[in-house]
Amino acid sequence: MGRILVTGGAGFIGSNFVHYLVDHTDHHVTVLDKLTYAGNLASLSGLPESRMTFVHGDIADPELVDELVASVDAVVHYAAESHNDNSLHFPQPFVHTNVIGTFTLLEAVRKHRVRLHHVSTDEVYGDLALDDPARFTESTPYNPSSPYSSTKAGSDMLVRAWARSYGVEATISNCSNNYGPYQHVEKFIPRQITNVLWGIRPKLYGDGRNVRDWIHAEDHSSAVLLILEKGRVGETYLIGADGEKDNKTVVELILTMMGQDSDAYENVADRMGHDLRYAIDSTKLRNELGWRPRYGDFEEGLSATIDWYREHEDWWAPAKEVTEAFYAQLGQ
Ligand code: NAD
Ligand code: DAU
Repeated sequence: MGRILVTGGAGFIGSNFVHYLVDHTDHHVTVLDKLTYAGNLASLSGLPESRMTFVHGDIADPELVDELVASVDAVVHYAAESHNDNSLHFPQPFVHTNVIGTFTLLEAVRKHRVRLHHVSTDEVYGDLALDDPARFTESTPYNPSSPYSSTKAGSDMLVRAWARSYGVEATISNCSNNYGPYQHVEKFIPRQITNVLWGIRPKLYGDGRNVRDWIHAEDHSSAVLLILEKGRVGETYLIGADGEKDNKTVVELILTMMGQDSDAYENVADRMGHDLRYAIDSTKLRNELGWRPRYGDFEEGLSATIDWYREHEDWWAPAKEVTEAFYAQLGQ
């Protein structure tokens, strides 16, 4: 049995990963999370105390991070400021957590010689034209667009430098857009599902032609665990499930699946610098490590996600009003 430190384990993907670890391995998990507006302890409720310990703190706190890293066999690093719209209006926390936080963690894993897996995003590659036959691969040049994606790109560069210069045993993964349970209502899919549940019209930025490559959070978790266990140290792996869809199609699908007219949404102000299309080629992960997604069918995963939000209003309702008030100020 190993001891794994999961940073950001009370957030969306981190909490999905903690549940996945507890269900599929014997590892003991320590979660380090600052519980920002995006962290929610309720996402970890029901996990046995014998398998999971929660520590409230900041990944940019060197003493705390040093002490925790010294007591584990591996670190899986999810903690981040993750929302593009927030980064465009309040960039400072993105620099603090995504850059300084990752630096702090790197110094601790270097000192204690602990294995690190760094979780990153496909947004570091910028965007693709709608008609570009290419998808992102591990050798696509970095070209981030937003304060969020540029600070994630910076964190990836720090990990690469610490691996090369100091021999830190690190892997990196860059994944596409996740959906599934425990995702904050600020994000596209849960925002529209919970809008419909509260009788608010879904909001589509711009003309809705922007394409995202959707993957279920459980499939992201299985890929990260596989890379942690079998990935080659020093390597980067792209994670994606061939789920490209434009935003208009996704909104229409949600409306139809929830028994509404497919055009019962509003077009609202576009995001500044809005990336047009993301698309992942995950051939390396599939061929080298044999990974396959479980949710090959986006509509099946979306339907399960709609059911989850229907059944868990107690989990999302406390954040809904404040989130919508923020968007209303932006005309979105
Ligand atoms: P999230 O915003 O839902 O969760 C982030 C978590 O990190 C929260 O629990 C928050 O409290 C915690 N946190 C923030 N600052 C912290 C700090 N200074 N110290 C400790 N904890 C802190 O984010 P998410 O969507 O779950 O994303 C998790 C990771 O996955 C991020 O690194 C993100 O870049 C990456 N990622 C996300 C997606 C996606 O579609 N959401 C896709 C690819 C990669
Ligand atoms: O690609 C991976 C990235 O996916 C992660 O690194 C980020 O952490 C994660 O937030 C996500 O970034 P996006 O900006 O793509 O996700 P978001 O859910 O904010 O928006 C998805 C798309 O939907 C995007 O084109 C903007 C659009 N959108 C979003 C909202 C909130 C709308 O049309 N209406 C909305 O209300």
